[in-house]
Amino acid sequence: MLKKRVAVLVSGGGTNLQAILDAEKSGLIKSAKTVLVISNVADAYALKRAEKHGVKTAVVLKKECGGQGPFEAKIAKILEAENIDLIVLAGFMSILSESFTKRFEGKIINIHPSLIPSFCGKGFYGLRVHEAALNYGVKVTGATVHFVNEIPDGGEIIMQKAVDVLPGDTPETLQRRVMEQAEWLILPRAIEYICSGEYQKT
Ligand code: GAR
Repeated sequence: MLKKRVAVLVSGGGTNLQAILDAEKSGLIKSAKTVLVISNVADAYALKRAEKHGVKTAVVLKKECGGQGPFEAKIAKILEAENIDLIVLAGFMSILSESFTKRFEGKIINIHPSLIPSFCGKGFYGLRVHEAALNYGVKVTGATVHFVNEIPDGGEIIMQKAVDVLPGDTPETLQRRVMEQAEWLILPRAIEYICSGEYQKT
């Protein structure tokens, strides 16, 4: 079977990208191959990870494009030129407009570091999510992989995994545990689940 062509959109360290690349290497992901990594941050370490694996990279900066519309148009053009089947947002810290999400309807997924619908939506990203969870005092948090639509973190949920909050946790220790025990496991699994055709979006 022909492997699905995956593009991963990143902004930072790229540990989730690394988990995907490792899963492709180990055979956990059988039905897909990451062929493109796009970053909206010029010096994102994720780009180095991609280069190390021989994956093509592109940097698209909103400032250089002159606004959200042309920024998204440029990303869309690159994705379409590469015949991408699945777009994975892995720590991509820019909210995509409805025109973009409609253009790629059912083809974009995102990893979010909480159990949606808690601690999600506009303003909840990265460490802020874990700060909010600790401030609220929840004893269980986790991560969610979901389809992306026009509502931030509002699309259909594909997979979730719970993680304990422990006494003495800081946003940093909690972030690390959520990555290790949830994100790096469910993101590769969700990609295989979708690309193998086993998961059908409703
Ligand atoms: C991850 O924890 C991811 O879930 C989160 O940013 C981090 C990126 O880390 N994404 C969001 O908060 C999106 N709302 P990484 O660059 O090492 O994969």
